[in-house]
Amino acid sequence: MDKQGLKILLVEDDEDDAFFIKDIMADSEVEPRPVIKHVLNPKTALKVLESESFDICLFDYRLGEMDGIDLLRKVRKMGVETPVIFLTGQNDQEIAVEAMKSGATDFRTKSNLTSETLIQSIRFAIQLRKEEDRREFAETRLKKSNEDIQATNEELQKSLQKLREAQDHLLRSEKLASIGRLAAGVCHEILNPLNIISGHVQALKMERESDENLGEDLYSITEEIDRIEKIVGGLLKFSRKEDMELKHSDINEELESVLSIMEKEMFLDNIQVVKKFDLDLPRIEIDANRMRQVFLNLVNNARYAMECGGVLTVTTEKIYKEEIRNRRKTDAEKEPEKIEVHQEIFLRIKIADTGTGIKKSDMMKLFDPFFTTKPEDKGTGLGLSICYTIIEKHLGTIEVESEYGKGATFVIELPGPTNSSSEQELF
Ligand SMILES: Nc1ncnc2c1ncn2[C@@H]1O[C@H](COP(=O)(O)OP(=O)(O)OP(=O)(O)O)[C@@H](O)[C@H]1O
Ligand SMILES: [Mg+2]
Repeated sequence: MDKQGLKILLVEDDEDDAFFIKDIMADSEVEPRPVIKHVLNPKTALKVLESESFDICLFDYRLGEMDGIDLLRKVRKMGVETPVIFLTGQNDQEIAVEAMKSGATDFRTKSNLTSETLIQSIRFAIQLRKEEDRREFAETRLKKSNEDIQATNEELQKSLQKLREAQDHLLRSEKLASIGRLAAGVCHEILNPLNIISGHVQALKMERESDENLGEDLYSITEEIDRIEKIVGGLLKFSRKEDMELKHSDINEELESVLSIMEKEMFLDNIQVVKKFDLDLPRIEIDANRMRQVFLNLVNNARYAMECGGVLTVTTEKIYKEEIRNRRKTDAEKEPEKIEVHQEIFLRIKIADTGTGIKKSDMMKLFDPFFTTKPEDKGTGLGLSICYTIIEKHLGTIEVESEYGKGATFVIELPGPTNSSSEQELF
């Protein structure tokens, strides 16, 4: 700006006044000499301002078809923030105030204008504009850093949430493992005397076939023994440590076989089954028997939650998760953003119902052994804890999403076919 000289736009419809102002500027000792562009009317001024930038504008107030204040408002509307000095007549004090309110930087009365006062006013206006620019720049930077802080904060919150989930997961696994150990021991202790009691009951039944009263009692005892066996059997399944029989299987087929067993009963219960299967699902290694057991329990639970009918939607899909493999030794020296991001395949199975939903207070206890809201003869509360253990053994996850009164969705994610082999490349 200094090297080229100030660029000034003068909007003045009176040629004599324009000549006078140019003269005053010529008298000033500002170096290099300011360059004044003179236009006679507001329309031309707006056109010029559209394509050219100036350091300062000098507007006369009386401009014929549009006054100086209207022109100033239009100029600001265009987004042009060049400082504007108003040149008014002797008795135009009110206009000067109005001009200042509309965004003018200064005003001067033409009759007592000198080169010193005009230059002083111009310097003041330019200084003010510079400070305004600095303030805006600082504000933008502050806003940006605020946004950065907010983004970092959100990232932190997300990491914290993930950490909490991992902690819950670990606690749950540990809790289940210790309950499992305890259960395995107790089951053995219970099964032996139970077998003996069961044997005595059978013997009594045969010996005292004719005694009707005793027959009824023995029938009740047998029923209770069956119930204990069911609970103990469930506990054993949950705590069993034996290896899984892994085979390449098609998840859709396994789901289909479970649904076909239940289809008739669900039809009678007025439950509509919707299958949304991804037919391109890769086959994965699973213990099909156990996986069917998981699906059966989830479908049974859903059915129970939809006593008055509803919709059961079973979805399968392939998903990709980004994994940053920064565990390789060769990555230790790399910048985090240069470490390759790999897409790992997972199979996601969703079993969603439109039933009762789950209370918030029950959500944390759902996978605990023996947690049930069903009457004694309807559920043992072992179903979901067995599901959890089975899915965990497949290196997968099982989660639940539910709003009380609005149904529940159980989501299982199992590692895809390549994930487990690529894991080994990491170390
Ligand atoms: N789809 C669902 N909708 C609503 N509540 C559910 C659903 N699935 C599970 N629950 C709740 O979770 C509890 C525990 O389920 P879980 O399968 O572990 O045991 P259960 O079904 O009660 O008994 P079991 O499976 O041993 O017969 C259920 O009693 C029920 O309160
Ligand atoms: Mg169940």
